[in-house]
Amino acid sequence: MPEQILLEQVVDKVRPLIGSGKVANYIPALGSVDPNKIAIAVTTADGQTIGAGDYLEPFSIQSISKVFSLTLALSLYTEDEIWSRVGKEPSGQSFNSLVQVELERGIPRNPFINAGALVIADLIQARQSAPKHRMLEEVRKLSGNSHICFDKNVANSEFKFSARNASIAYLMKSFGNFDGNVDTVLKNYFHYCSLKMNCADLSKAMFYLANRGKTLQNEQLVTPVQTRQLNALLATSGLYDGAGEFAYRVGMPGKSGVGGGIIAVIPGDMSICVWSPELDQNGNSLAGTRMLEHLSQALGRSIF
Ligand code: DON
Repeated sequence: MPEQILLEQVVDKVRPLIGSGKVANYIPALGSVDPNKIAIAVTTADGQTIGAGDYLEPFSIQSISKVFSLTLALSLYTEDEIWSRVGKEPSGQSFNSLVQVELERGIPRNPFINAGALVIADLIQARQSAPKHRMLEEVRKLSGNSHICFDKNVANSEFKFSARNASIAYLMKSFGNFDGNVDTVLKNYFHYCSLKMNCADLSKAMFYLANRGKTLQNEQLVTPVQTRQLNALLATSGLYDGAGEFAYRVGMPGKSGVGGGIIAVIPGDMSICVWSPELDQNGNSLAGTRMLEHLSQALGRSIF
């Protein structure tokens, strides 16, 4: 189990990397984040959470929300209903690519690229009333933090600059793989992405992935088999085009977001969240990946 001092060492070791990546600015409201922020938090099998750096400071979780939406969809639909609409393979393309959606007739490669997450948001919209509110309630419950909110400024900024995501959704609609109103589903999806959570909240909320589907509150959110399946998808597709590099260096199922957060899991042992806003060329947190690499080395842990 990691100790507080180890987390502090990890943050100190990686801090000099700040300045070598680029903060995402294709969503204008994200471009103004302080690039000097750096944080790590870990929730261990005994339910304790420890952290270092800015681990209590909320940030935009962005694509990390795709884990919550897939988890929610698993409770609303059968496996067949989900996996006939979206695949389980790594995409080998950037997270917001359109070409594959065209070539593969509207079926996205996996639920973690934007196309796949839009299909999942479409599924949720079709079976759940008040999907934004329900998602907010769910993450508040999972993390035990009732103060978590959407960042309306980020959600609105994304909607204003939504040409690419809207194109992906309409392209899927043209192939019959998108049922809802595109604007409505986009708004839900952008709200999920705009959730503001800190590293402690996220490591607690993702604890079920390390705990055979049981949350920190001892509720069975997904079955042990579904947990294994979610972790398999995270290990193969959670870091987009950087999934191979991440598996090689870190060796944990994980999910990144363009806000600079990454969640990672050591099944049976701990859920982890790191945050540093500057990204590498694949859109994954540069210093965040390095923190996870140091942690896995220090603990001698990898799923491989
Ligand atoms: O839809 C988008 O482009 C963003 N809301 C989320 C992208 C994202 O976080 C990809 N992550 N690395």
